[in-house]
Amino acid sequence: MQAAIIGTGACVPDQVLTNKALEELVDTSDEWIVSRTGIRERRRAGHDEASSDLAYSAARHALKDAGIRADEVDLVLVATATPDMLLPSTACIVQGRLGLKHVPAFDLSAVCTGFIYGLSTADAFIRSGAYRTILLIGVDTLTKFTDYNDRTTCVIFGDGAGAIVVRATHEKKGVVGSTLYADGSKWDYIYVPAGGSRTPSSVADKTNCYLRMKGHDTFKVAVRGLEQAIVDLLERCHLSPDEVDIVIPHQANVRIIEALTRKLGYPPEKVFVNIERYGNTSAASIPIALDEAVRAGKIKSGDNVLLAAFGSGLTWGASLIRW
Ligand code: UT7
Repeated sequence: MQAAIIGTGACVPDQVLTNKALEELVDTSDEWIVSRTGIRERRRAGHDEASSDLAYSAARHALKDAGIRADEVDLVLVATATPDMLLPSTACIVQGRLGLKHVPAFDLSAVCTGFIYGLSTADAFIRSGAYRTILLIGVDTLTKFTDYNDRTTCVIFGDGAGAIVVRATHEKKGVVGSTLYADGSKWDYIYVPAGGSRTPSSVADKTNCYLRMKGHDTFKVAVRGLEQAIVDLLERCHLSPDEVDIVIPHQANVRIIEALTRKLGYPPEKVFVNIERYGNTSAASIPIALDEAVRAGKIKSGDNVLLAAFGSGLTWGASLIRW
């Protein structure tokens, strides 16, 4: 059995936060943000908009695209670092809204690499025969945990959700393989100090509820990690780099994507980039980009689609899909 992707969908909040608007909040400039990150604007969830709202909408689009009813789904996976609340899982909230009685649902957390971890999990469940149709959603609302006084982080992050429907098939298509990695010794490269059991929000200082990032250090390990994940994956799948038709990297920084593209020798037209409109949407960035690439007609049947991500944890990994 292989895990084929039979539908994609995405949802971003309506509110647009431009670089010009950020110039009013912190000492930054449109020129700095565009040249150092490639980001021109990002989306920001409203006060009454939580991760499950974006996730539910993306899921609806993906189910419609797949042409299946919600009750055909037999497992719901949500990759997120920004659940609606500590408990229950956001996957259960989405499952309930979809009316999926008794279908198992759980969150998994690998932050920006969450979608790759989720896809690898869905693939393993399908290969084992445990489930036939899996709804996988990558969603994050990191702007809720962003300090809009901190210019080193507030220009980077945006909110959004992307979803796919994965279904068991006997055809030679779907997930070919994945590589997953983590390095917990660098957990403090990107983290939110409070809100968990170490410092519950009930005793936390407000400043500890915001994301902290060693941006420059993360940048350096990100390029190396992404390269390792891709080189190992292609070797494992017995594929040469030029047999890849399209690369969809996590949209963290256009300079990371360009450095990776140069190292791997891919022509820029093979690499999908939409960071200028959404910023870094963490677990949502790959499924949003995948949905856009499909809709733009950039992926056709039989194509080898390479996904790769890097993020907090640290975590990183890559997946190869035969479309
Ligand atoms: O999602 C996966 C995990 N995250 C990432 O992969 C993020 C990886 N890192 C990055 O994308 C980049 O490191 C950043 C975009 C976060 C920062 O870019 P950088 O080129 O690495 O800048 P830097 O941290 O080395 O800072 C250079 C200068 C500093 O000023 P001084 O000390 O040289 O005077 C910063 O204070 O740029 C300054 N700076 C800014 N200036 C204007 C930092 N942020 C800003 C800003 N506007 N928003």
